[in-house]
Amino acid sequence: MTLSQDLLNNLIQITSNSAVACFPFIGKHEKILADKAATDVMRNELNQLNIKGEVVIGEGELDDAPMLFIGEKIGKGDGPEIDIAVDPVEGTNFVAKNLPGAMSVIAIAEKGNLFNAPETYMEKIATGSHIPKDALDLDFTVEKNIKNYSDAANKKLKDITVCLLNRPRHNNIIKELNRLNVNIKYISDGDVSGALLVANKKFGVDIFMGTGGGPEGVIAAAALDTLGCKFQGRFLFESPEDIKRANKMGIIDLNKKYEINEIVRGESIFCATGITKGDLMNGIIKKDDKYITETIVIHGKSIFQLVKKEVTIT
Ligand code: FBP
Repeated sequence: MTLSQDLLNNLIQITSNSAVACFPFIGKHEKILADKAATDVMRNELNQLNIKGEVVIGEGELDDAPMLFIGEKIGKGDGPEIDIAVDPVEGTNFVAKNLPGAMSVIAIAEKGNLFNAPETYMEKIATGSHIPKDALDLDFTVEKNIKNYSDAANKKLKDITVCLLNRPRHNNIIKELNRLNVNIKYISDGDVSGALLVANKKFGVDIFMGTGGGPEGVIAAAALDTLGCKFQGRFLFESPEDIKRANKMGIIDLNKKYEINEIVRGESIFCATGITKGDLMNGIIKKDDKYITETIVIHGKSIFQLVKKEVTIT
């Protein structure tokens, strides 16, 4: 394996530290400051690693993001060549309002194996490893996807749960799901976690669908791929600027539907540390001058491993 256990341990420490960095901002309605605190720590610590890294999913493009921008070179410049996707705070609103589900996330793969995604929306559909690859498709109607799932999983419609972001843009999907008498798990933000809920029956979500951030789609795909889950994504380009940026990144076919193996290939590591408690893991617990963090690690056989760490701020 090119992605070593040492690198994995370092990443767990980094997402733990970046999560803790924004602990003082939980509930303070300061999402920009929270994001900056986590981003500073994540960037500094990634730069201490013996890797030749490049940010493929980051805080934005060079013009709007001074740190961890797409294309930024990361690490000491020796060691393996790595593509890095970061989301120092996934769910900035959750941190600002002290709501469940905020986490600090890094996903990596060997160079050339993680999609370089533009900052646009993405239509997404995901389901578990137990469903055949062609059962669900972004080009199918909601009804066809649900009925195919029902057949493949041998589950009645009334026992199926779909997770999606609670947004007006999803009104038609919601109308259809209600007509079909399918259960809906709404999330107000944080669709990386939302997509990951399909990965294990214990989370009670059968399908994730709807439109959310493109970068978040790539990060979720990196985790879902290791777990053998199914995922498709299609970027949505709304303005001429979006299209220009996409072209610059090499995306010519703007309507392309990406299969999971076109978004992430080979071995990858996904680490997400809880900031506030969510469906996937605990949030940070402060004990005297120490912080206890919980990180989900998805890599090779360490599927959904939960790692606790003690972080002391010096
Ligand atoms: P931030 O943490 O960057 O605020 O993103 C949160 C998030 O909910 C993502 O998980 C999701 O992909 C995206 O925002 C949805 O965007 P919008 O709020 O515009 O629907």
